[in-house]
Amino acid sequence: MLNIAHRGASGKHPENTLLSFQKAIDLNVDMIEMDVRVSGCGTPVIIHDETVSRTTGGRGKVRNKNIASLKKLDAGNGQQIPTLSEALNLIDGRCGINLELASCGSGILTARSLEASHGIWDSIVVSSFLIKELIEFHAQLPRIRLSYLTDDLNLKDMEKISLLPFYSINMNKDFLNKFVVDWLHGLSFQVFSFTVNTKEERRLMGNWGVDGVFTDYPELFHK
Ligand code: G3P
Ligand code: MG
Repeated sequence: MLNIAHRGASGKHPENTLLSFQKAIDLNVDMIEMDVRVSGCGTPVIIHDETVSRTTGGRGKVRNKNIASLKKLDAGNGQQIPTLSEALNLIDGRCGINLELASCGSGILTARSLEASHGIWDSIVVSSFLIKELIEFHAQLPRIRLSYLTDDLNLKDMEKISLLPFYSINMNKDFLNKFVVDWLHGLSFQVFSFTVNTKEERRLMGNWGVDGVFTDYPELFHK
């Protein structure tokens, strides 16, 4: 089962920072998940929330701030909010990367940023709850694997899943069970679950045949 560091090793280090990504690499994780949003000047940056308040103590929306003002904020332990390009450079093929398209416009801008990078594309998976962003990303870079993110896999999700050649379905662990995992495997999808933070939960996911778990505590499942 893949050990996927959710926002880096975010249980012990500030989420979505170069520090949390480096700590995850040190733990030999299979993959690091991070959230991509578009800044006011169009640079893709790595931050989960729409606003900067929870993670930096600053104020305002990411999309209303240019890169210079985002860089002045403290994302925890003196870390800055990384750009996508800084995160890719740090990881540099040392583990897989799951880029979650988290905001409007992130699909196109992430594709452009990857096109300009040095092409470790086989180790990248792009995921989103936002089908429009996935469609726009896929139109630019069709060879990169895609994951569909959902909490509970309802009927609307099933329609959306039919629109693109998804590699995996990534579901909230609270809505998953063995029947759903078997059914998705039967449709040839990999199944990943989030957010799995205890050994007990991970054992359960293993029993159901889940292929990978997103966790804030990758050290718990250290190989
Ligand atoms: O990709 C798994 C998980 O990150 C999705 O939810 O809100 O943590 O981005 P969220
Ligand atoms: Mg995420």
